Amino acid sequence: MSRIIGIDLGTTNSCAAVVEGLDQKVKLIPYKGGEYTIPSIYAVDDKGNELVGHEAKRQWQLNPKNTIYGSKRLMGKSYDPDTVRRIHDYFFYEVHEATGTDEVMVGIADKRLALPQVASKILQKIQGVASDYLQAPIDRAVVTVPAYFNDRQRQAVKEAGAIVGLNILRIINEPTAAALAFGVGRGMSTETIAIFDLGGGTFDMSIIEIRDRVFEVIATGGDIFLGGVDFDNRLIDWVLESFETHHPGVDLRSDPIAMQRIKDLAERSKIDLTQRKECAFNIPFITMTPDGLPLDIDLKLTREILEGRTADLVGRTIDTCRRVCADADIDPKSLDHVLLVGGMTRMPAVQAAVTGFFGQPPSKQVNPDEAVAIGAAMFAYSLEDDSNLRVQLLDVIPMAIGIANASGQLHEIFERNEAVPNLKRLTFTTSVNNQKDLQMRIYQGDDEHVASNNELLGEFTFSGIRLAEAGTVKVEVEFNLSQDGILSMSAHDKDTGAEMEKSVALGVRKYE
Ligand SMILES: Nc1ncnc2c1ncn2[C@@H]1O[C@H](COP(=O)(O)OP(=O)(O)OP(=O)(O)O)[C@@H](O)[C@H]1O
Ligand SMILES: [Mg+2]
Repeated sequence: MSRIIGIDLGTTNSCAAVVEGLDQKVKLIPYKGGEYTIPSIYAVDDKGNELVGHEAKRQWQLNPKNTIYGSKRLMGKSYDPDTVRRIHDYFFYEVHEATGTDEVMVGIADKRLALPQVASKILQKIQGVASDYLQAPIDRAVVTVPAYFNDRQRQAVKEAGAIVGLNILRIINEPTAAALAFGVGRGMSTETIAIFDLGGGTFDMSIIEIRDRVFEVIATGGDIFLGGVDFDNRLIDWVLESFETHHPGVDLRSDPIAMQRIKDLAERSKIDLTQRKECAFNIPFITMTPDGLPLDIDLKLTREILEGRTADLVGRTIDTCRRVCADADIDPKSLDHVLLVGGMTRMPAVQAAVTGFFGQPPSKQVNPDEAVAIGAAMFAYSLEDDSNLRVQLLDVIPMAIGIANASGQLHEIFERNEAVPNLKRLTFTTSVNNQKDLQMRIYQGDDEHVASNNELLGEFTFSGIRLAEAGTVKVEVEFNLSQDGILSMSAHDKDTGAEMEKSVALGVRKYE
């Protein structure tokens, strides 16, 4: 049987690795050109050709409307105007609400794709490259997700795999995977570490205790709308404001090609400013005046400007760290190591903030771009029959899961940071005579009070309740949280044991 590979499906870059060969070492899977990461970008060119990765990135300046980038942020999200606006300020592909469900769809080349379909294009590319590299078809993988992904977002990733025949055996959290890359083989002593993962789209922070081969997550927190693209967007705003002062009334926002060129240079300049204190920000012929004269962008950008424009974003990462340390009941200064993961952690201001908060410089022992894929590959290897690596991951759910009660409040079933896997049982009693079914809306999120401020996981109906007087039938509902952080439910009559039939309204659980 072919190997199980580990995949880090990132917002901006994806990376895959595998344990193989006689030496059973972790190897990163190289793409054409020898690179170990590919941009998580899917595009369709004007001839209808599908492009993934570097090829898609190469043409994005000219084809911004049909280039889908950063879409991991929409995976498993219900359509809500606020999210769509946040995407639309800086991305040029179309975003729609699906008919019949509350899912988001993206428009590309006259087609509409659900987000798992977009992710499946990237997974398929990785699968193809891995198959060529290993000279065997690849149909099983361990895929990482942000620790802060909820149940629906995790389901969406599984669905993406299923679309291309890739069985995602396990979903593991990105910081937990990075901890594995760091911690396997470190010996018997117990160490408590923090993983600070600031990638292209998301921020995660976990505190993990490592005891030999046991990795126990104590607490986790994060934000799926905080990452490198937000830093880029702040630079884009600075560029547009500076341009506007020189050329009042010339609106670049409505020109997708101009915006894409600015975006491209904004990201490159942000990266440059890791090494340098200033750089030129020049784009010739960005647009024309109404009387046909070409206009250029010709600015000087400094590290100080970048830091000034993004200080609040860095501040938000530290706020999360503070909350996670409080949840874990741990003094941030007492941790044994702090690991940095994700490309954005190369920014000096991020490193300085982390060093200040934890009172120690971060460890340089893992590669921030590769640690997650390496950890996923190690975990994948631990699932192989012939593996001599045994690891135990004890993870938690990042946000509470609960039921909306009659007054719209959230009745928590699982609290945030509760261990997975997990099982809870609740007993409900019929409230009217001859009640036939029991309905419940399940939510997951940070708002402990108002249920509907959280993500709706589904509206479930259990039917087939035995006909009887109100208050006599007791229905026991089991809430089963898998190791992947995905909820499944069943219900039975507590007295007779008869199973109830379950159905899901709102269509959000079609893959259950
Ligand atoms: N030297 C650098 N300085 C600043 N930022 C950098 C540097 N190198 C890469 N980045 C930024 O890091 C981000 C990409 O990081 P990474 O590849 O870890 O993200 P990802 O895994 O795709 O995203 P996520 O984990 O959020 O899903 C991009 O925004 C990129 O601009
Ligand atoms: Mg990442």
